[in-house]
Amino acid sequence: MAQTWSKSDWRNKPRVQMPEYTDAAALAAAEAQLSQYPPLVFAGEVRKLKSSLAAVSRGDAFLLQGGDCAESFAEFSADSIRDTFKVMLQMAMVLTFGAKVPVVKVGRMAGQFAKPRSAPTETQNGVELPSYRGDIINDLDFTPEARIPNPQKMLQAYTQSAASLNLVRAFSTGGYADVHQVHAWTLGFTDREEAEKYRDMANRISNALDFMKAAGVNQETAHTLQSVDFYTSHEALLLEYEEALCRIDSTSGLPVAGSGHMIWIGDRTRQPDGAHVEFARGVQNPIGLKCGPTTTADDLKVLMSKLNPNNEAGRLTLIARFGAGNVGEHLPRLIKAVKEEGANVVWSCDPMHGNTIKSSTGYKTRPFESVLREVREFFAIHKSENTVPGGVHFEMTGKDVTECTGGVRAVTDEDLSDRYHTACDPRLNASQSLELAFLVAEELSDRLTEKRAAV
Ligand code: PEP
Ligand code: CO
Repeated sequence: MAQTWSKSDWRNKPRVQMPEYTDAAALAAAEAQLSQYPPLVFAGEVRKLKSSLAAVSRGDAFLLQGGDCAESFAEFSADSIRDTFKVMLQMAMVLTFGAKVPVVKVGRMAGQFAKPRSAPTETQNGVELPSYRGDIINDLDFTPEARIPNPQKMLQAYTQSAASLNLVRAFSTGGYADVHQVHAWTLGFTDREEAEKYRDMANRISNALDFMKAAGVNQETAHTLQSVDFYTSHEALLLEYEEALCRIDSTSGLPVAGSGHMIWIGDRTRQPDGAHVEFARGVQNPIGLKCGPTTTADDLKVLMSKLNPNNEAGRLTLIARFGAGNVGEHLPRLIKAVKEEGANVVWSCDPMHGNTIKSSTGYKTRPFESVLREVREFFAIHKSENTVPGGVHFEMTGKDVTECTGGVRAVTDEDLSDRYHTACDPRLNASQSLELAFLVAEELSDRLTEKRAAV
């Protein structure tokens, strides 16, 4: 398959959700520059993630994917990267404890800049302008100049991604990710009065760590407790950027997307004969495919054969995003299609994108209860289908924002205006993210208990 593929073939396919650049010379210059830059990720890392995801597909690991809906140039800071990294490690610790398997950590980070939009234009007070499509393409300001796609922004996105990755790599191995340290933060969360129901699990984690210490497993002897593997991912929407960062892996001789470890195809760009599928099919990276209520079983079968012709485990992650109350109608029919093909996939649950509503105060929000309900429905269906609920995919931040309603420290419709900072969709805040991790851990440990009982 890869032999008959080239990184620019997508240009001959129908494309949707991509900008029309007006200055062809400026675009060509930006692409030429980017293609000279080093890749952001390396083929060996990509292979390692793929083999970890193969373990997820078998139920021997669990996937935690999360981060901003859209990264932005304005919100870029070491603190926000650190805070998101930190809360993801806390979540991973809680999930590891529940599932008793390793957690594969993948950030929506260091490349998550381009956004598909529900409408090509936006109207404010009778003025119609092209939609904002993410900081890699145009600007959020509501002026005609700001909304013109600017190819130079690809270079800034690359630079910011490189700086983000540098920090994440430092945090991953520099002692910051030490398991004891991470747990101390988790205890901080459970100290809150409202979080009483999570204290028990946190105490059991403490006991396990004390036991390891007593048994002689400590920071000096166990290097793996001090460092983590943390991967990056984003929606591969802006194909000029993806093509310019595509590289040939010197070990295998095959193409790899150098823009991030894992890339995914969005719910609006998964046309089997479209440009996005064409690009993704030719690179070796793990690929995510969003599956929504309009995904048909037939399309899914075609997409699986195009994106994973060799049925390689870990290559394809199906990210289900149906909305609370809709999982029972859609997930079983897609699981059936996967079973009929005998396809190896990771099933992950995105409980964010099917649960966006407008609050009574006019903000785009997501009720925590709907997010949780979709996760529960996802687990229940996998239990009845006897398939593996492999992971979760959240829009979240380590900051104390007020973008989604509900949670232990209940955010109300009125609170939304306090700290509503997202450049796109509403994110779970640190407390809501960790609370969700405790609830998913409960589901995973119930599953484990049943598995053991069945042996
Ligand atoms: C996203 O993940 O930010 C997104 C736009 O999702 P979807 O393609 O599932 O709507
Ligand atoms: Co989003």
